[in-house]
Amino acid sequence: MAIIPTYEIDLVKAKTSKINDVDFNNLTFGRVFTDHMFVCDFKDGEWQKPQIMPYQAMTIDPSARVFHYGQAVFEGMKAYKDEDGKVFLFRPDQNFERINKSSARMAIPEFPKDYFFKGLETLLKLDSEWIKPGVGNSLYLRPFVIATEPAISASPANEYRFMIICSPAKAYYNEPVRVLFAEKFSRSADGGVGFAKAAGNYGAQFYPTSLAQKKGFQQIIWTDASTHDYLEEAGTMNIFFRIGDKLITAPNNDRILDGVTRKSVIQLAEDLGIECEVRRVSVKEIKDAAKNGSLKEIFGAGTAAVISPVSAFEHAGDVFEIPEEENSYATLFKSTLLNIQHNLAEDKHDWRYEV
Ligand code: COI
Repeated sequence: MAIIPTYEIDLVKAKTSKINDVDFNNLTFGRVFTDHMFVCDFKDGEWQKPQIMPYQAMTIDPSARVFHYGQAVFEGMKAYKDEDGKVFLFRPDQNFERINKSSARMAIPEFPKDYFFKGLETLLKLDSEWIKPGVGNSLYLRPFVIATEPAISASPANEYRFMIICSPAKAYYNEPVRVLFAEKFSRSADGGVGFAKAAGNYGAQFYPTSLAQKKGFQQIIWTDASTHDYLEEAGTMNIFFRIGDKLITAPNNDRILDGVTRKSVIQLAEDLGIECEVRRVSVKEIKDAAKNGSLKEIFGAGTAAVISPVSAFEHAGDVFEIPEEENSYATLFKSTLLNIQHNLAEDKHDWRYEV
């Protein structure tokens, strides 16, 4: 679809703000939302005039495809505020490109670039008070698209709703996570939708993850669906292994999300002179490294999770505890990334986007 060059947003401001009811020091991820939301409907073959309105519940016909066939995609982004009150996004072009790749895979029409950016910027200016300065604070942004057409035929909808909602966020994981390496269940397969941020990719993990949680593991590291021999990603984050001084992470393919934090870590590793191999990594290699003491760290990388260390893993009944590393790469990447995001460090790759 062609990018529409200029447009206005219909704006209805909230009469009162909810901000004074929020305890910004005690935030559970994704529970509290700001005063406004962005809404844009697709019908008659085109995206209609976008709107920003007070955050509210909405009415959708029960027959909408999203409820029956999960025709829905989403993104995760964050806005940061520096000590001077300037607001930044981190590599938003990557999220824009990815939501449209996800949409294409789910037969959802592409969203125009200027709608995406003007929507985000207008929303962030209106709800700017919700972005608190200081490393560790951010406003999590959730753009998403749902199929809204009232009809249950199993075919792509003709009507959609694109929305952005915003939620003040602190850490996603408060502690290092214990993980299971998947042996039976799979997250994605060749030719499937694993690379897309399709809603169903996440819902399908809830049951196996709940079984893992009963055994005391917060997350699953998914393995390839055909052999379960190769480690892929953790569902809420991509995954990095440190053996000796070298980092290893799985290559992008049909099954793995092309994470913005993942690709930033790969670039930062190069900047910091840390060798990072992007290649298949087997369960056996990691178990052998854990046994001989060369496995130094495992950590996840994602927008919500930032950089989250893994403190233990289990596979085939073998549990390996990963001792805390003194010169941790996870800590180094986390602080390097957060300093760039919060305008506290040089941004040599132009990743910051001032709103
Ligand atoms: C993100 O990191 O933004 C994600 O989408 C992961 C999530 C499901 C919380």
